[in-house]
Amino acid sequence: MAEEAPSTDIITLTRHILSDQIRLGPAATGDLTLLLTAIQTTSKFIATNVRKARLINLIGLAGELNVQGEEQKKLDVLSNDIMVNSLRASRKTSVLVSEELDDAIIIDDTHRGKYCVVFDPLDGSSNIDAGVNIGTIFGVYKAHSETGDVSDVLRPGREMVAAGYTMYGSSCNLVLSTGGGVNGYTLDAALGEFILTHPDIKIPPRGKIYSFNEGNSTYFHPPVINYLNSIKYPSAGKSPYSARYIGSMVADVHRTLLYGGIFGYPDDKKSKSGKLRLLYEAFPMAFLTEQAGGLATTGRGRILDVEPKSIHERCPVFLGSRDDVNDLLKFFQEK
Ligand code: AHG
Ligand code: MN
Ligand code: MN
Ligand code: MN
Repeated sequence: MAEEAPSTDIITLTRHILSDQIRLGPAATGDLTLLLTAIQTTSKFIATNVRKARLINLIGLAGELNVQGEEQKKLDVLSNDIMVNSLRASRKTSVLVSEELDDAIIIDDTHRGKYCVVFDPLDGSSNIDAGVNIGTIFGVYKAHSETGDVSDVLRPGREMVAAGYTMYGSSCNLVLSTGGGVNGYTLDAALGEFILTHPDIKIPPRGKIYSFNEGNSTYFHPPVINYLNSIKYPSAGKSPYSARYIGSMVADVHRTLLYGGIFGYPDDKKSKSGKLRLLYEAFPMAFLTEQAGGLATTGRGRILDVEPKSIHERCPVFLGSRDDVNDLLKFFQEK
């Protein structure tokens, strides 16, 4: 059989978001396109630093604690600075919230645009030094206020106009939704371009994998313990689920979107609101999960409907395949 000729019509991320803008007609100003272009550049820049980290002394601690009391790694700080500089320079943003900054940044008049970006510059810090997958997570709101105010980002995740993440792994993948489904792109390092490789990602309605840090089981509440037991010790004739837990939300969610199953970081007796941050971890990942046809819940309600009170607040997260998340919810309803 003759080999297929290589494609001469590749779809780059820039081409794809530009065609989306054209589809929306003259009402679309192109500002979101330019903002997403700036974000993809930050991902390339962070990716090259992640690859070289061991060689250029970018491994290890930066020597400061962030607002949540975590020790910042050098790559956390560098990635944050890359994001802030690029987003400000894009002239398309008005408010920025980062995991690594105590307060929201209100962009000065000369650089102000109409979008607000919430981001986790480097997700999975504990995995950096071992070369395990890490990522960047972002969510985008359209500003309400004229001059930029923290209230522009203290809004439910369902109001986001775009969300996505980049995973720095065996390949570098950017996964993005602007509200019309989810698309995945792979960085072609030779071209320096993200190429559309995963069009219209749909999460399987049921999976076979669960992804929780079971080391915290002693603190878990009964609904979570009972659910985990139900998938580990299923009724006769059914197979137990496989466990996969990387400890980088980006990598665990990426696998869940592609293979299906359930990812969870519950609230428990020790962490009253769980660990993951609502604005820049839970919301963007919930947005992508729903756009891919899955469910994302706190156990008590839809994540995207939570009304944030402060920029660094935390929230319990359970997301993934529709049937698996519904199974978990039955245990919460029993309570
Ligand atoms: P970050 O590195 O941005 O602080 O996020 C870490 C988060 C997330 O990536 C992951 O899902 C979770 O922490 C893992 O926590 P445990 O080590 O407690 O399992
Ligand atoms: Mn952190
Ligand atoms: Mn994180
Ligand atoms: Mn982080």
